[in-house]
Amino acid sequence: MIAACLSCNHFTYTFIMEKAVPTMTPVADAKEGARKILLDNNRGGYTIPSPKLYPFQWNWDSGFIALGLSYFDKYKAFDEIRSMFKGQWSNGMLPHINFHHVDENYYPGPDVWGTKESPWSPQAPATSGITQPPVFGFILQMMAGRMSNDAEFIEFVKEIYPRLVHSHRYLYQNRDPFNEGLVYINHNWESGTDNSPLWDEALDSIDVTRARDVSALRRDLKSVDAGQRPTNENYKRYIYLVDLFKSCNYDDKKIFERCPFLIQDVLFNALLIRSNEALIQLALLIGEDASEIEEWNQKSIHTLNTKCWDEESGFYYDFDLNGNKKIPIKVSNGFMPLFAGACTAQQAEKLKDQLFTSFKNGNYLLCPSCAIDEPSFNPVKYWRGPVWINVNWMLYHGLKRYGFAEEARLVKQNSLELIEQTGFYEYFDPRPEIDQDHRGLGGNYFSWSAALYLDFTLNS
Ligand code: DGY
Repeated sequence: MIAACLSCNHFTYTFIMEKAVPTMTPVADAKEGARKILLDNNRGGYTIPSPKLYPFQWNWDSGFIALGLSYFDKYKAFDEIRSMFKGQWSNGMLPHINFHHVDENYYPGPDVWGTKESPWSPQAPATSGITQPPVFGFILQMMAGRMSNDAEFIEFVKEIYPRLVHSHRYLYQNRDPFNEGLVYINHNWESGTDNSPLWDEALDSIDVTRARDVSALRRDLKSVDAGQRPTNENYKRYIYLVDLFKSCNYDDKKIFERCPFLIQDVLFNALLIRSNEALIQLALLIGEDASEIEEWNQKSIHTLNTKCWDEESGFYYDFDLNGNKKIPIKVSNGFMPLFAGACTAQQAEKLKDQLFTSFKNGNYLLCPSCAIDEPSFNPVKYWRGPVWINVNWMLYHGLKRYGFAEEARLVKQNSLELIEQTGFYEYFDPRPEIDQDHRGLGGNYFSWSAALYLDFTLNS
């Protein structure tokens, strides 16, 4: 793979398989480069996260992408969100992938998911059978910050709002078995942080003698170094869970009884809280009653703080429902209550301290996805250490929200430097000694890195 430098005022190309994928944009205008990525990755109504690696519409990617699009084409932003909601199930679930078109270059595709048989899945598009972190509430609210006087935007909010509430209601009615305000995820892919060490123990509890070997079916390793992706042993377990859900016909009650992976994830719940807050604000804008959402949110904030906060270490941890215990591993998910506004000033202070001890360790670039002092830290492996731009963006807003202006500025500065010096990669090596040609990891020409670069630079 040829990495390119933004200081070269021309395009270079990475030759992956049969087609050349443009990897970089002219430094002369990185904003223009970001815009070009979003347009090039657009497939008519929706945008893929990255050529080759992710050829369909992904749920939380789509939210961040819509925010980026809204800076230069509000209609494309509206279409992005409308396309996502085309895949919404009748029970309210917003799937993690919409397979709007056929593409053999991804595994697992629609046949593996087999969601057509489920009573809740839509006629079209074909979709996966799990969800992803709920981002659309806060994405719409962020857009409202610039567009609340735009009549077309208000009409659009009115159109999407009931579907958004339905997607939150689905979570509270189907994923909160103890009615405590914390929802569980049943697959690591639902977290968006696919191979985080948080999931190791639950995935290890799967009896792999009953799992299929899918290593030969994987497509991701054709374009990305295996050292930067989940292992084949991981994939066996990921597909074991998909097969299990299919055998339950995507009935959440049956899945809850049989699933070895039931985790109340801090990131997922914090984003739900942040999006609830956004829905309450948006309700004021369009004259809706938000009392149901207010009730959900109070309960969620309370339980996040009683069940996931650990006073001794000053950090938030996921909770494993099968093991009935916290998962005491420090990953960047634990900072997301800052973004949600769910912690007290004292808790926020402790989180900020953790950021500059366990996650920074001298000159490391912020914010590694896993604490550097965790034994599972790996600076190049997907969600086990590399920096992700969407996490940095949420962390930036969270730090600002609690008055940590200087710390927020540093997170933003690191994010912009990574992109401007290395490119619009999927994730980045945080180690200080790595030269910029080797920092960019995973997919390139990555849509949410481009979209959030626009928000970082146009909305500061
Ligand atoms: C993948 O295929 O790696 C995706 O992250 C699953 O959603």
